[in-house]
Amino acid sequence: MSRTLFVTNALPYANGPIHLGHLIGYIQADIWVRFQRLRGNTVTYVCADDAHGTPIMLAAEKAGVTPETFIAGIHDQHARDFADFGVAFDHYHSTHSPENRAVVERIYAALEAGGHIVRRNIEQAWDPARRMFLPDRYVKGTCPKCGAEDQYGDNCEQCGATYSARELKNPYSTLSHAAPEWRPSQHYFFALSHLQESVENWLAHASVHPAVKAKLHEWTAAGLKDWDISRDAPYFGFQIPGTTDKYFYVWLDAPVGYFASLLAHLGGDTEKLESFIGAASGAEMWHFIGKDIINFHGLFWPAMLKGAGLRQPTGLSVNGYLTVDGAKMSKSRGTFIKARTYLDAGLNPEYLRYYFAAKLGPGVDDLDLNLADFVARVNSDIVGKYVNIASRCARILEAHFDSTLAGADAPLTQNTRAALPAIAEHYEARRYAAAMSQIAALADDVNAWLQDAAPWKAVKSTDAGTRAQAQRDCSIGLEAFRLLTLALAPVMPKLAAAAQAFLNLPRLAWRDAVAVLPDGHRLNAFTLLATRIDPKHIQAMTDASKETLTTPAATPAAAPQGSGTNPPARPQITIDDFSKVELRIARIENAEAVEGADKLLKLSLDLGEFGKRQVFAGIKKAYAPETLIGRLTVVVANLAPRKMRFGLSEGMVCAASFGDGQPFLLAPDDGAQPGMIVR
Ligand code: 2FM
Ligand code: ZN
Repeated sequence: MSRTLFVTNALPYANGPIHLGHLIGYIQADIWVRFQRLRGNTVTYVCADDAHGTPIMLAAEKAGVTPETFIAGIHDQHARDFADFGVAFDHYHSTHSPENRAVVERIYAALEAGGHIVRRNIEQAWDPARRMFLPDRYVKGTCPKCGAEDQYGDNCEQCGATYSARELKNPYSTLSHAAPEWRPSQHYFFALSHLQESVENWLAHASVHPAVKAKLHEWTAAGLKDWDISRDAPYFGFQIPGTTDKYFYVWLDAPVGYFASLLAHLGGDTEKLESFIGAASGAEMWHFIGKDIINFHGLFWPAMLKGAGLRQPTGLSVNGYLTVDGAKMSKSRGTFIKARTYLDAGLNPEYLRYYFAAKLGPGVDDLDLNLADFVARVNSDIVGKYVNIASRCARILEAHFDSTLAGADAPLTQNTRAALPAIAEHYEARRYAAAMSQIAALADDVNAWLQDAAPWKAVKSTDAGTRAQAQRDCSIGLEAFRLLTLALAPVMPKLAAAAQAFLNLPRLAWRDAVAVLPDGHRLNAFTLLATRIDPKHIQAMTDASKETLTTPAATPAAAPQGSGTNPPARPQITIDDFSKVELRIARIENAEAVEGADKLLKLSLDLGEFGKRQVFAGIKKAYAPETLIGRLTVVVANLAPRKMRFGLSEGMVCAASFGDGQPFLLAPDDGAQPGMIVR
């Protein structure tokens, strides 16, 4: 019986490019979807950008654009990257969409009606300089247990202690470096505890890898805690209905984005949506995710769905992380590789799909992309084994038999055909590595058989019977090649399509495995289906990945005239390094001499909506304090505050000088406003 499946991939955040690490899960899901379709099942496969939350709001601000503009640009890049790797979603949407707002509000209303939403007052870190509540990851400070500095608000990387952000010593906002205040705020919680039993029941029946189940069991055994689903303004997200300054936390609306994308794909037809997401849905629902987000998909999401009276997932497929050459991806080694960099280096995306498949199992193990092995394996398995079968046979049939087959059935092809059910089972269970090694072994058998049969010799015979045998042997080789094409098609769809065209087949479908290519079947012209990877493309890729951090060496600037000695060259920095520096326009509200300091002025600065600052500046010899009042200048706004003998300095004003020479305070043109970012 044919199945109906709804398949999703984790929604990538709309604040950065897709890299090869992301691609594991997307390629894994796409292969599964293509396999299901080859089997005759009906699949709807969607994804979207995960567009909400504080990091995206801040990234847009840093880029000087609205969040909407910011996420629109990223959406298009992501959609292109996926398409170019053959990850063929039926729809690629955004969580910042009317469809998502509608489904989120529907689910929230159902949870509220079911009594699963509770309101509670909490104390939350507040950044007085940025005038916003801070998510925990934006508060750092000194570990209360071991004294290590610069630790996040929830745990210490040095001693492993866990604590709340309020316990940090000398806490500071990572945005402004100001000490946070603790302010009360009413938050909305989803009472997960109400749905603990339903999550446990779901887990008992869902198709989830045992290692993942074990982790989820640990959490349910500890008891599910209520989940804070609201965030205070300013926040880029959906306002919670009935409030003026509360927003849904990004992780509340992210998985709902699966349904929003489906709804958009269905042209907004909510009845059709119901047939997928309603409690009585006959469709399967599968989520492909990374191992870092199993709590959201294995606890919160099934609970949300149950609480809202909707269907729960059929299964989760969870992948591990990518390592490159045995180590974490590294920008300095050039192994933090963006999807686009791989493509721009001239590498075939289907080769990466094959390599990932050849190493992927159903579990959460990390996958190592060993670059030398990647080249060797693709060149051997795909070019040396699979394509080689076709090129050996096609040339002979083309040159001597009018590209026509005869006698394609034989023990060899029966053997290949007999292996397909086991390969299908491997695909179904996402044991792709097992499927690929079986395919490679079958290709080995065919090549060994051809080597023995040697039709390239037989075809030169003057004996008609021997020549006819050469035609049969090549036909057998190509029938085996057809079956292997079918087996590889989910992984290498373009290559399979090219093979299909050459074989002159109307379609590729698993059910066609049983029929044999008939006598008289004519092939189309053979074109080279795949070429070997030249390692120079790998080098180009890693070089380019390094270049994303190291700008090309600039011509050294001419030494400043009259400066005596040239200052030593500073190390080059990248645009990413430079963008860490937050330069803003400030108005000097007050300036005064500092008693006991002959070079310093104490400046009171107004940064508009970014608050007020006190800064000590070594510009006294050039400026009488009263001449500065009211002037605009440029301040490094995110410099860590420094305790000086005369007080705290909360930034740095920018002035030009030659070493100890006279300072010239930087000032913007007329019209600039306090708080503006400088870049
Ligand atoms: O971890 C992440 O990258 C999230 N953006 C995944 C969201 S998956 C789904 F729930 F939306
Ligand atoms: Zn510690």
